[in-house]
Amino acid sequence: SSGIAGVRERTLIAVKPDGVQRRLVGQIVHRFEQRGFKLVGLKMLKASEDLLSQHYHELKKKDFFPYLLCYMSSSPLVIMVWEGHNVVQTSRMMVGSTNPAEANPGTVRGDFGIHVSRNVVHASDSVEGAQREIQLWFNHTELIDWDCCDHSSTY
Ligand code: PPS
Repeated sequence: SSGIAGVRERTLIAVKPDGVQRRLVGQIVHRFEQRGFKLVGLKMLKASEDLLSQHYHELKKKDFFPYLLCYMSSSPLVIMVWEGHNVVQTSRMMVGSTNPAEANPGTVRGDFGIHVSRNVVHASDSVEGAQREIQLWFNHTELIDWDCCDHSSTY
């Protein structure tokens, strides 16, 4: 269907340890709410290196991989699933370039990022990648569908 009613595209957004430690969770959530996306899952957890190596499986051969795993498992993450029209691509734009030095002002990394290894957030890079990551981090019972209340609702 071409209508807006059937939109089910979802993406995984994670606030990394530096973002949690710097008290940026609220500001990051706010940006996604303000953009009109729908929060369908959220949790805080300290991730295992095993889970992180599955999440970052494409990076196993990179020299920074051990540091990435060590850092990402050192302190809690806030993991979220956001839903909406074109949410994967729009989120990548809102998050900005991987390297904060190249990220535009107005993006999360352009406003808060320090270094490529302390870049505040993770955002899925494709619809397929998002589906894989969401399945990895969330049990289906943790993803919640809900409707908006407005003046056309019955009470
Ligand atoms: S690639 O494959 O080299 O192009 O990787 P890239 O897309 O640039 O980055 C993938 C993720 O790896 C993180 N990264 C790093 N972490 C720690 N140290 C260094 N030097 C480093 N370089 C890249 C980068 O932040 C990306 O993380 P995510 O969570 O996917 O945004």
